[in-house]
Amino acid sequence: MDLTSNAGLFADWHVVADIENLRRSGSHETRLFGTHLAISRPGDGPAVVLAGGKKVVAREKYGFVWASLGEPFADIIDIPEAEEDDRHIVTGGSIAVHASGLRVVENFLDMGHFPFVHAGWLGTEPHTEVPAYEVAFTGDDQILATDCRFFQPVASPTAESGFMVDYVYRVFRPYTVALYKSNPTQPDRKDFIALFVQPVDEERCVAHPFLCYLMDGIDRATVRWFMQLIFAQDKPILENQLPKKLPLDPRTETPVRADAVSVSYRRWLRDRRVSYGAVPQAV
Ligand SMILES: [Fe+2]
Repeated sequence: MDLTSNAGLFADWHVVADIENLRRSGSHETRLFGTHLAISRPGDGPAVVLAGGKKVVAREKYGFVWASLGEPFADIIDIPEAEEDDRHIVTGGSIAVHASGLRVVENFLDMGHFPFVHAGWLGTEPHTEVPAYEVAFTGDDQILATDCRFFQPVASPTAESGFMVDYVYRVFRPYTVALYKSNPTQPDRKDFIALFVQPVDEERCVAHPFLCYLMDGIDRATVRWFMQLIFAQDKPILENQLPKKLPLDPRTETPVRADAVSVSYRRWLRDRRVSYGAVPQAV
């Protein structure tokens, strides 16, 4: 089994709960691929996940409970930044979004929306142009977009003025995406933000942000606050997109939205025959 089918996608690891929330509530009910999940954490863990009443494989990592609806064929993704002890490791709260999780990933990859959706923070007019960047498919089946640059007025809570921010984007899995972004006080290092998207069903998801921010000059609460501020700006935009599922046919949406990494992401999903949460390409 691998990630070249919906069956492979179902068998992969997916975040289904934030441990901090679960510790507070004791139990949590949610859905994954339309299947009801009951999650509990007896004593101090580890979490138990029942899918449709049957126990499924579950693990705890990076502050989250992960589950699979099959036999996982690969490990949970490796994030070296999460092991660096000069970083705040923060889960950003679990945000329910009424849109396909693939749309949430695509939006995360899109720099073009910064000056309009995050005006005054991640972008500002007239700096609306996305300079050309490189997109590559890596040997380990991921998408890597490098040399991404964008002018941001408040790139991070520690940014004292606007600056040209360097980004690297990585698509780890169909529903897992991350970015590495210049740190304002240590320009040779990058802050890391991942989005683990839980496909609730084809048109609904829960976005679980995970941040590894350099501690220099910033506290955990501010890191979390900034992520939630930015995501609150994205949520209504995502929920207004129609169709709710991500169209995979390259002819169905305007070329303005279809920038290089978005085109690559859709092609990558098509090649992998991952269609859950997508409008498949017409034949
Ligand atoms: Fe955004």
